[in-house]
Amino acid sequence: MSVEPQTTAAAMSAVDYDDAIVKKFIFATLLFGVVGMLVGVILALQLAWWPANLGLEWTTFGRLRPLHTNAVIFAFTGNFIFAGVYYSIQRLLKTRLFNDVLSNIHFWGWQLIIVSAAVSLPMGWTQGKEYAELIWPIDLSIAVIWVVFAINFFGTIAVRKVKHLYVAIWFYMSMVITIAVLHIFNNLSMPATILRSYPIYAGMTDALVQWWYGHNAVGFLLTTPILGLMYYFLPKSVERPVFSYRLSIIHFWALIFLYIWAGPHHLLYSALPDWSQTLGMIFSVMLIAPSWGGMLNGLLTLRGAWDRLRTDPIVKFWVVAVTFYGMSTFEGPMMAIRAVNSLSHYTDWTIGHVHSGALGWVGMAAFAMIYWLVPRLWKTTIHSPAAVTLHFWIATIGIVLYVVAMWSSGITQGLMWRAIDDAGQLQYPIFMDTVLELMPFYAIRLIGGTMYLTGMLMACWNILMTVRGAPASAAAARPATAK
Ligand code: HEM
Ligand code: HEM
Repeated sequence: MSVEPQTTAAAMSAVDYDDAIVKKFIFATLLFGVVGMLVGVILALQLAWWPANLGLEWTTFGRLRPLHTNAVIFAFTGNFIFAGVYYSIQRLLKTRLFNDVLSNIHFWGWQLIIVSAAVSLPMGWTQGKEYAELIWPIDLSIAVIWVVFAINFFGTIAVRKVKHLYVAIWFYMSMVITIAVLHIFNNLSMPATILRSYPIYAGMTDALVQWWYGHNAVGFLLTTPILGLMYYFLPKSVERPVFSYRLSIIHFWALIFLYIWAGPHHLLYSALPDWSQTLGMIFSVMLIAPSWGGMLNGLLTLRGAWDRLRTDPIVKFWVVAVTFYGMSTFEGPMMAIRAVNSLSHYTDWTIGHVHSGALGWVGMAAFAMIYWLVPRLWKTTIHSPAAVTLHFWIATIGIVLYVVAMWSSGITQGLMWRAIDDAGQLQYPIFMDTVLELMPFYAIRLIGGTMYLTGMLMACWNILMTVRGAPASAAAARPATAK
């Protein structure tokens, strides 16, 4: 099965692709990657050494933490996804993006939302819902800009020159639709002042809607669009067709069907009805199947090209990304089992799981895509291939240090909290006893995180040098012709 769908004769003629918008989203990804990860490193430092809170209300852990999560999820990952989606749908559909004005409103609107988040969160203006902290006026702007994106996306599909919709586009579509639904329903609230609003849901219903949103934000922002990008950019990078197109279709439908029901695994042992918790647990465990189908489809695309793993750093990034996808989608279902969750919940094990997905899967896929795209967009070669390889190793070792430290810390924490002495009393009733035990792990996480950030900075340097050294004709974004 071919990597891309067959094209008609008309479609084969040169198309004036809009690559300027892709370039803008790449720059924004790099900028906000640095900001978001720098804040992550500051948080890691604060947990290892509390004076780093600086005694200022704006820089306390509680305010910087949502700044980190919003920056890495919506700014770094969001911009990376938009860059990849806009580049690939034009090629897959052999047409220019639907409307240049909409593309630019999407870009600038999204960056404005990010800047508002960067101001409002340290000020402490928040709705208090994880990953949905932003106050209602910003939420409204997100809804508007997302609709602009959706019109541009579906408009491009409508004016396509190729009938078949390659599987990557199905993955993107699931993101465009689901994120809109999740965002709108989770943020339905009654504004009281410009900074404050009250959710229309109460109590457990509010919690359930919030984690239906929270889990599917992971599913439809940190997972499905990136799988779509994997199905486009991984075969391109290894110059091989995707291992099984049929498997990719099964992967898609099974994944989106199962994901949407798994949210209650965030509310195990809560007041949520038991049947609903069990439903969440069962759907989470079933998720292993499509997730691993996707992982194998990615890895097996390399069959016959494994030798490139030794020489091509982009292939290295992909292999680590897909492997971490497999690891975190095995770990997640395990953590969704009630008995395991009773140990892992509230502990650093969750943080380890999050970052094996975030740094391993999301981050490494982003770097693989960007290193492949930049030389093509600017019609040049990468400034320093050696620095790409070095980045790969620094980042990979950084992830291992981060994740292993958090697993060790989480399991230590969980076991200490539940330890009972001979008299049936809690063995460690003083919370601080457990915290002190975790300090070495926090130091190791800080080292791992700093390494990962260093890799990110190296990528910025390498890409800026590549762009600066590009031929002048390529620096002007248009016209880029079909290939
Ligand atoms: C089959 C796939 C997956 C399943 C079933 C799953 C399951 C879980 C479970 C059970 C938790 C802990 C909930 C708790 O105790 O509060 C969790 C947390 C989390 N997972 Fe996953 N996971 C999966 C894949 C992923 C991937 C690939 C990523 C990232 C790219 C990810 C990101 C997160 C995040 C951000 C949290 C923390 C949520 C919070 O703030 O509490 N997960 N996941
Ligand atoms: C240099 C890289 C990074 C460092 C040092 C870092 C560090 C941290 C720290 C210290 C926390 C708070 C943990 C706690 O509350 O105990 C955190 C939370 C989090 N980070 Fe990162 N991070 C990095 C990159 C990323 C990236 C790239 C993503 C996503 C794409 C990400 C997603 C998250 C999420 C979702 C949480 C909240 C987890 C939860 O509530 O369970 N991080 N990070």
